[in-house]
Amino acid sequence: MIRLKNEVQINGIRSSCKMLSAMYRELIPLVKPGVQTIEIDKWVYAWIKKVGGRPAFLGYGPKKNPYPASICISINDEVIHGIPSKRKIRDGDLVSLDSGIDLGGFISDQAISIEAGKMRAEIHALNAVTCGCLYRGIEAAREGERLLQIARAVNGCAQEKGYGVVHQFCGHGVGLELHEDPQVPNQPHGPNPRMGKGFVIAIEPMINLGTGDVEILEDGWTVVTADGKVSAHWEHTIAIHGGRTEILTEPLEAFTGLQPERIAAPVPV
Ligand code: MF3
Ligand code: CO
Repeated sequence: MIRLKNEVQINGIRSSCKMLSAMYRELIPLVKPGVQTIEIDKWVYAWIKKVGGRPAFLGYGPKKNPYPASICISINDEVIHGIPSKRKIRDGDLVSLDSGIDLGGFISDQAISIEAGKMRAEIHALNAVTCGCLYRGIEAAREGERLLQIARAVNGCAQEKGYGVVHQFCGHGVGLELHEDPQVPNQPHGPNPRMGKGFVIAIEPMINLGTGDVEILEDGWTVVTADGKVSAHWEHTIAIHGGRTEILTEPLEAFTGLQPERIAAPVPV
């Protein structure tokens, strides 16, 4: 069941999203070679607590194996849900961060991929295209259009470059819970409802240098590419209003030093 959000709820979700993006703006300069990923997680936990939120990812998932951190940190061939550890970021790593805040019951979700140190041109291109794919997808998210238009936009953009699009994981409704209906795939398969006023969804292309196939590691969380090639991940939480679409989380690519490739024109108001 898709829960349409009213203006009061969207206002709450927006506040949560702005807080999350503010967190990332402070965090981005700290993500560099030599830093342990667990240090980043500790910083994120403290930041979210300090501002009166709750880390939305911490404890999420099955009771027997809940997600143990406040942020997912997925490096290189890790696609999503990487668990912070003693691993140190190294020069040339593509570091994907994904986090969410529960602010008074309103949930935000945003992911970015940071190029740490000197980056291989091939990986930089993947990252720029993935971010561009996200904006292409957002451009397709309009009141009255079908949901899979998002997937067509994302997929088209990635396929044009010969990249693999992860299809085993997808975007989702968000706002009152972390994962709500509908699923928002990046490949055009599955239910295709019309998007209406009050939709709040997370759009999150995961794009690979090789094939789109992925596997889950024994920790039950970390998703890696099946062929070991690098993956990039960018995500925004958006709201569909009557006649316009709003990006609730804030664009952060400029703060990471990235210029998205083929960034879509903003959706007309
Ligand atoms: N942002 C992730 C997603 O959209 C949520 C991660 S699941 C968690 O699927 F357990 F890490 F929270
Ligand atoms: Co998400």
